[in-house]
Amino acid sequence: MLPRRLLVCAILPIACLASGCNDRDLGECNLGSLEGDEDGLPGPKAFDLVYNSIDGRPMFEGQALVQASCGNGSFCHAPSAVGAGRIGVPAGLDFDVQLACTDPSVDPTCANLQPCEGAGAQSPYCERLERLQSNRDTTASWGGDIMNEIRDGTMPPGAAGEQVQNDTPWIRPNLTELPRLDTKEGRDIVRNWLACGAPVVARTEIAPTPQNELAPCQSLEDEVCVYSGPQGDLPDPTWSSIYWSLIFTQCVTCHGPANSNLNSDDPNPANPLETGTIPGGASPQGFAALDLTGSDPADTSNWPSESHGALVDVPASAAGACEGPGVINVIPTDGPGSLMIQKMRAEQTCGREMPLGSGTQTISNAVIAVVEQWINAGAPND
Ligand code: HEC
Repeated sequence: MLPRRLLVCAILPIACLASGCNDRDLGECNLGSLEGDEDGLPGPKAFDLVYNSIDGRPMFEGQALVQASCGNGSFCHAPSAVGAGRIGVPAGLDFDVQLACTDPSVDPTCANLQPCEGAGAQSPYCERLERLQSNRDTTASWGGDIMNEIRDGTMPPGAAGEQVQNDTPWIRPNLTELPRLDTKEGRDIVRNWLACGAPVVARTEIAPTPQNELAPCQSLEDEVCVYSGPQGDLPDPTWSSIYWSLIFTQCVTCHGPANSNLNSDDPNPANPLETGTIPGGASPQGFAALDLTGSDPADTSNWPSESHGALVDVPASAAGACEGPGVINVIPTDGPGSLMIQKMRAEQTCGREMPLGSGTQTISNAVIAVVEQWINAGAPND
């Protein structure tokens, strides 16, 4: 069986191949500046960066929108998609503009990169860089047709196309979300990016200092390299910090009882929600399987310390989908073996991903790493 998302591909330029399309004008190119200096021109800038909210990987805004909507490296306009996976997209029409390298801690072939000439051209990185550049050229040369399809609403295609776009929210350096391709602003970002020849971020490095985060890093020839970007504020690796920044805001809505205090004042000053809102009641099944609240429904002050006992060393509940030998919510010193971590990574073998709903991981790797750090330190009730 093909993954369901294959059925929803954007078959971009097929109609154009058959009938020959007139390119509507892509308009002016506003490149902007990689250093982020304000250059005064209004509208989107092709060099504006966004970050993948799961792994922090940077792309230019237009690059991210096209990558997310045209196959995301796995179907339709992706080189790795073959046969039925292309859903009729002709061979070679590849718009896969995924980075050729991330930092060496993620991909060891990205350590000690050499210029791509002579023997160096054969390195895995240089081969991936060449493929990226060729896909970028293909994307740029089809720019007018791509914009026609987007403007005509042929893309993104239908309700399922929505899901493709929603899989990974991209965040801007100011931590707001990148507009979607089906908004006027999203379309204009892609139009400008194509008008500028579809420049791509080719690889990343880890920023040596926080100040460097958004600056370009040292590049080889004909590539753009930028430092891995912001992930937002991270919790401390303590249960109370994790509780208030993650559990209370993203889990208690389902793992808590219906709460009459939904819109009223929680006397607890640590409550991060506006006007002291206390969430809960959204999923009776989730609440039956796991209660992440405390004994006083009107004052959340003790909720972190009291909910600790529902997770640590506690086997999965009969009310959930995971009850079975050895399935434990949090196993002190074993992050990867803990059901809670597996569910946050959407790699669990029972029940669903957490927070439930999107079918994929939605909490960033950086935040999950903090939770694992806490578990690996023995998951204390601190
Ligand atoms: C939209 C509702 C919803 C949200 C939000 C949600 N959960 Fe759940 N959760 C459920 C349901 C329903 C189950 C039981 C079915 C299953 O395991 O898939 C469950 C089960 C679990 C279990 C397994 C408990 C057991 O005993 O089987 C864990 C662990 C868990 N959730 C953790 C979390 C964490 C951590 C978050 C926040 C990051 C979260 N959940 C957010 C609905 C939700």
